Amino acid sequence: MLKLFLTMAVSAATLAAATSTFAQPEPPDARAKAIVDQMTPDEQLIMVKGSFGWFSKSGDAVIAAGWVPGIKRLGLPSLRESDAGMGVANLMGKRTGDVATSLPSGLAVAATWDPDIAYRGGAMIGSEARAKTFNVLLAGGVNLVRDARNGRNFEYAGEDPLLSGVMAGQAIKGVQSNHILSTVKHFAVNDQETGRNVLSSRIDEASLRESDLLAFELAIEIGQPASVMCAYNRINGVYACENDFLLNKVLKGDWAYKGWVMSDWGSVHSAALAANSGLDHQSGYTLDKKPWFGAPLKDALAGGSVSRNRIHDMNFRIVRSFYATGLMDNPVPITPQAIDYASNAKVSQEAAEAGIVVLKNKGNILPLVLGARKVAVIGGHADVGVLSGGGSSQVRPVGGPALEIVPKGAAAAFARITYFPSSPLKALEKRYPGSQFTFNNGDDVAVATALARDTDLVIVFANQWATESEDLVNMNLPDNQDALIEALAAANKKVVVVLQTSGPVAMPWLDKVAGVVEAWYPGSNGGEAIARVLAGDVDAAGRLPVTFPTAATQLPRPEIPGLIEKKNSKGEISYGLDYGLKAFDVDYNIEGANVGYRWFEHQKLKPLFPLGYGLSYTRFTYSGLSLDPSNSLQVNFTVKNAGKRPGIATPQIYASVPGRDGVPVKRLVGWQRVTLKPGETRSLTVRIDPRLLANFDVANQRWKVAAGAYHLVLGKSSADSSTTTTVQLSELSIAP
Ligand code: BGC
Repeated sequence: MLKLFLTMAVSAATLAAATSTFAQPEPPDARAKAIVDQMTPDEQLIMVKGSFGWFSKSGDAVIAAGWVPGIKRLGLPSLRESDAGMGVANLMGKRTGDVATSLPSGLAVAATWDPDIAYRGGAMIGSEARAKTFNVLLAGGVNLVRDARNGRNFEYAGEDPLLSGVMAGQAIKGVQSNHILSTVKHFAVNDQETGRNVLSSRIDEASLRESDLLAFELAIEIGQPASVMCAYNRINGVYACENDFLLNKVLKGDWAYKGWVMSDWGSVHSAALAANSGLDHQSGYTLDKKPWFGAPLKDALAGGSVSRNRIHDMNFRIVRSFYATGLMDNPVPITPQAIDYASNAKVSQEAAEAGIVVLKNKGNILPLVLGARKVAVIGGHADVGVLSGGGSSQVRPVGGPALEIVPKGAAAAFARITYFPSSPLKALEKRYPGSQFTFNNGDDVAVATALARDTDLVIVFANQWATESEDLVNMNLPDNQDALIEALAAANKKVVVVLQTSGPVAMPWLDKVAGVVEAWYPGSNGGEAIARVLAGDVDAAGRLPVTFPTAATQLPRPEIPGLIEKKNSKGEISYGLDYGLKAFDVDYNIEGANVGYRWFEHQKLKPLFPLGYGLSYTRFTYSGLSLDPSNSLQVNFTVKNAGKRPGIATPQIYASVPGRDGVPVKRLVGWQRVTLKPGETRSLTVRIDPRLLANFDVANQRWKVAAGAYHLVLGKSSADSSTTTTVQLSELSIAP
């Protein structure tokens, strides 16, 4: 055991500056101030309010999420805002004919554990946005996956603050590399869709700082987003968009954030209170009860309940971001530019291939060696395309959807179950010209089973569609797919299940099938990506960014708080949003900061698959975990490809940290991702951000690493504890 004693006090900002290459030069401040100083009082009320763009005909609005008028006299462009979790979203694309490239889902990108892939994806969608004349992407979803059933999990980056913060931060940085603006959203603890406009996320400050806020803090440090979008929900009783603690104290105070806070669409409830609590801009004002940041804000200013300085600051923050991102010096073209969709689809495909996770591979059934064999491909509309998630982030794919289904009784009237035209079946047929493929849609279990009996191998595609605005009612695959898989597994020993899901699902049939592959929502070229992973053209490189529970009973809240059924006139049932719900609390103090794998560890529960898990087609050995002699917060180790194929290893470092309740808790503190040839060995290093070892000391408002021995683990997942070492640290105190 190596003993190291540290006594130091460093600020998080210093740490960030040391690690971030994106420290902004000073000029944006001076340039922004000079412009805002020239604004008349009326001009200062222009950019603080934006309209909902779907039906907008104002000014130079593009039909998309939002539009904010600019101020021509001062050279300030209007803001043309598009949604952007996975690509330039175009829910109105059916009407406008607009299409775009879609990345795989946020969780799929997070499953790559590759910050460069996240960056390249962000850069690609940002370039499409720019070419389509947008200058704001409402990207950067970083809400933690606290519930496997959250309808928007596919938009986010997982359950761990470090992984989520790094991946979302890099994606934002990629978007903004085009000199356009990105958000990070939804600030904060908007961790379920059911009742999102009325619920209050109850969570104590220390837990909040160590979990959801830490993900935002890291994403903001890395990505330097122009804007932070405050969420619909309340936090400890106070709406996110009028939450002085969140916006003024934490974001603008402790984190010294210089950008602006924009509201989510329809999340503003006041003028003076919201403005004084830190909201700088009301988005999509027609969705709120009042145009709060229009006449009501003007009245508040006249009546003295909002100061002139505050209005100046709101404008300063917006304009400063124009300069900081380079938008002012690199204006977005006013006419659409050509887009190379073919090469952008390759960027998406690369991310999808790297994020697909092989969960089970009995008898090395994968990579598929098919020869002249008969293969049944069953279900999931694999003959036409791949699934995508619904809601405001929906991309209308190049070539138009392969299939669009109106969901039964959906709460979100705008949502359509959309398949992108990239057929896994066709990609497999192309990849294996000598094999005989037969497709069956899986609707009739008996017919599908008969086919399975008569083939050498079965690939069953099982899908779970999710959408913004409603949670998944349970963790099961819908539409009888579990029964279908059971029946196929009973008919044929060689069944490979390919899942396209928003997030974790239960797998009651797991023991009976030979292979399981989690393909998430795999994006524009998803069919091709799936075929290439199944074929072993690339290694199975994805690792879970989220724990897969065996069932919802293992979750901190086995029932979704506030979930109520709604029946439409046809008797169809849907769930979600408000339906006139009265305010209710979601008790996140149950798990506190112990989200996901930490909860499982704390409760001594065995999940179906832990965080970080995923099988490679080769075999890696990890060894030599040791502390760097010159830095107690750095570990060195060695990874070897001990197999016969090239492969990608993702060694992870976890630390056992004394929890505030006295129970030690395991936390991911770093990882590496490395491509190795057969037999190749590589020495690797992970530097640990001390905040990940700290608990938040609320009384003193500082991160505190307690003195003591910290057990460090090098593993292939959060449940792997084969290689360990210990570091002895003395107390460390860090300003937030
Ligand atoms: C979503 C946001 C989105 C906004 C604009 C809201 O419903 O929560 O993520 O950016 O709409 O479309």
